[in-house]
Amino acid sequence: MKEVCSSNTFIEVNNVTFSYKKSEIILKNITTSFDKGEFAALIGPNGSGKTTFGKLMTGILSANEGSVFVEGKNIEEISLGNIGKKIGYLFQQPARQLFNPTVKEEIGFAHSFMGKSKEIVEQKVNKIIEEFSLQGLEDASPYRISRGERQRVALASIFINEPSFLILDEPTTGLDIVRKEQLSQLLKSLQPQGIGIIVISHDKDFINKNADRVIELYGGEQHEA
Ligand SMILES: Nc1ncnc2c1ncn2[C@@H]1O[C@H](COP(=O)(O)OP(=O)(O)OP(=O)(O)O)[C@@H](O)[C@H]1O
Ligand SMILES: [Mg+2]
Repeated sequence: MKEVCSSNTFIEVNNVTFSYKKSEIILKNITTSFDKGEFAALIGPNGSGKTTFGKLMTGILSANEGSVFVEGKNIEEISLGNIGKKIGYLFQQPARQLFNPTVKEEIGFAHSFMGKSKEIVEQKVNKIIEEFSLQGLEDASPYRISRGERQRVALASIFINEPSFLILDEPTTGLDIVRKEQLSQLLKSLQPQGIGIIVISHDKDFINKNADRVIELYGGEQHEA
């Protein structure tokens, strides 16, 4: 029998086909895998299915055919909550994942929710606020800050949970050169810890600088670039 998941594999995608409507297949027989500590980029034209692929790997969408395994377990058998603990997912539109009244509550939300003490949550929030240069915005509403600031709040809310794997849909949108470089450094620092990263992006510069491997989607199929 084929080994479903070698020890270094984090996500395995097996013959996945997906369509929103029967008449239009978005992804056709996609088979690939992503390792721990790997930095992969997913590229392709608008509408080629990159965001859809990301959602299939986080259990937000289910494949019509084929399967996705996370650490060897069929994703259909893992709750969304448990997938969320392992895989940090940045939505292409970060406003979708922000729902707290202030930046600091947004970033500390998952921790407070898990019943961590106020002091621990505060310490971690302050550290991550510094890492993402969000000082001064702690009490601002996530809806009344700039696009790039919002992107950094969404990223900070993911990083504070220390996920084992990251899928980031267009993470550099709205980031200036300095913030982009900071994000590159941060992501690079995660790789030696065995944290795998998939970046979905149109940002060629960011991909060339960071990715070990590039997968291109077009016509519903994947091509290793
Ligand atoms: N909820 C939905 N219902 C029906 N069709 C959808 C839905 N979401 C996306 N699509 C369609 O699926 C195709 C793939 O969309 P997807 O968002 O995955 O592309 P993408 O590669 O991420 O594009 P972009 O570069 O613009 O972000 C597109 O043709 C899109 O119109
Ligand atoms: Mg997209």
